[in-house]
Amino acid sequence: MAEPGWRPRLRWGTPLPGLLPADATASGAQQPFRLVAPFLRLAFVISLGAGFGAGAVLAISQAWGVPLGAWWTALVQVHGRAQLVGFVGLFILAVGLRFLPRLRGAPLVSARSAQYGLLAIGTGVLLQAFSQPLLALASTPASGLARVGLVLGGVLAWLGSTLIVAALARTLRHGPPLSWRGGLMSILPFLILRFATLWLTLLAGAALCVQAALAFAPAFPAPTDRALTDALLFGFALPVSAAVSVRLLPITFGVELVAPAPLLALFAILSSSVVLRVAGDLTGQDWPLAAANLLMGLFGLGFPLLASVPLGLRRPLRRADSPALAQASRLPNALIRSAYVWLLLAGALALIGGLSRLLGNPVRLSEDALRHAVTTGYLTLLILGMGARLIPGFARQRLRPVPQLRLVVVAGNLAALFRVLPPLAAALGVTAPALAAAFGLSGLCALLAVGRFTQNVWPMLAGEVGRDAERNAAGVAAPRGQRP
Ligand code: HEM
Repeated sequence: MAEPGWRPRLRWGTPLPGLLPADATASGAQQPFRLVAPFLRLAFVISLGAGFGAGAVLAISQAWGVPLGAWWTALVQVHGRAQLVGFVGLFILAVGLRFLPRLRGAPLVSARSAQYGLLAIGTGVLLQAFSQPLLALASTPASGLARVGLVLGGVLAWLGSTLIVAALARTLRHGPPLSWRGGLMSILPFLILRFATLWLTLLAGAALCVQAALAFAPAFPAPTDRALTDALLFGFALPVSAAVSVRLLPITFGVELVAPAPLLALFAILSSSVVLRVAGDLTGQDWPLAAANLLMGLFGLGFPLLASVPLGLRRPLRRADSPALAQASRLPNALIRSAYVWLLLAGALALIGGLSRLLGNPVRLSEDALRHAVTTGYLTLLILGMGARLIPGFARQRLRPVPQLRLVVVAGNLAALFRVLPPLAAALGVTAPALAAAFGLSGLCALLAVGRFTQNVWPMLAGEVGRDAERNAAGVAAPRGQRP
């Protein structure tokens, strides 16, 4: 029986099944998890290699005072692109290809081309990751190959996003009238804006790859690279992850759905902040960045408070949940909760940074620390927490404690702390060997957290568990020794 007083509310046009017209869902089967599972695996592989792997090399070499040459800038850009497009981006798109057709009430149209899209994005990121550092090793015989690889990588990533956006747009045109799909209608303008941002940013990225290849340059010019990175992070990865998580929190935490008006206001604030930030990146002017940080501060502080996650305001787990489910949810929820604490910290940092810029920079807070509070703190921990809750369900497995998740919670939070604290301390004039050592260790902690998590969910993503569940559901016994 449900906990007394717990009632899902239809505040945001939520499509509760019993309240929909009988024909609100189009006929035709939804695509199975197998459609996107390989790309979640690809996202984790990219993150462990070109993402956190490269990040660990960068952090260790900076902590040890290794001379930073052209390879450094190339590797920084490879790392940033791999994390934002190959890890967070691929994850969001793969999960979106599963969720959005269900929200639309119609099967995904052009599922095959959407799969090619995910493959093209992953391959594009990998090609860029190999080509840029190769170009930095000036006059290598392979530099011609590296230039071709760089251009191909940029174009493939953009083509991939085009295929996915086209598949989603075609799916929208099918199924029951849109007005019956309240859950989708309430977020549709937001989704269109965010996917358009991704598409345009990847198009700009492809153009930058062509420009760099023609100029034999191993790295993009700093202002355009910053603008590209900020558009991807604050214009796509952060708002989409936040929006998806706030829709899922009523399920994972048992909290109320957030009311639409303040939520829309906060997302409008974030959108204005992105426009100002990109303008500041491109022009080098201080005031747009100050205003962008103030607005980002409002979002970073306002959104977690509105979502009621970090401060323990959530309702106790519903009594209907079995003790096993409550136990299995504990550590994933700890990851999600800590992600939201990191978003609060990022909000506070942005607010202080914005105020400081307005007052003539008495404290020059590092933009790098802000970015990593959002990426290593919020996005990574959110993906791990939501992944631990959702992936077993996608794979049609009962939710049970993901092994060694405690290690993932500790190592993931340490990675964020070690990555963010040293540059903040340096901005305040505090340096110490212990801080440098912590910085050097940050990448290794992240590798430990994400590596352990990947190892644990790999069999579910490999489809073994899901296929067995499907076979069992169809009444066909799995071969001996292969049962879950
Ligand atoms: C603990 C794990 C991580 C480590 C050790 C790390 C390390 C680094 C380092 C050393 C830099 C160069 C900073 C500079 O220019 O001085 C950097 C830049 C960057 N990192 Fe990370 N990082 C980590 C996690 C992440 C994550 C999870 C993301 C995104 C999801 C991310 C995205 C970026 C971006 C976008 C840049 C700027 C790239 C550019 O300027 O083109 N990092 N990171």
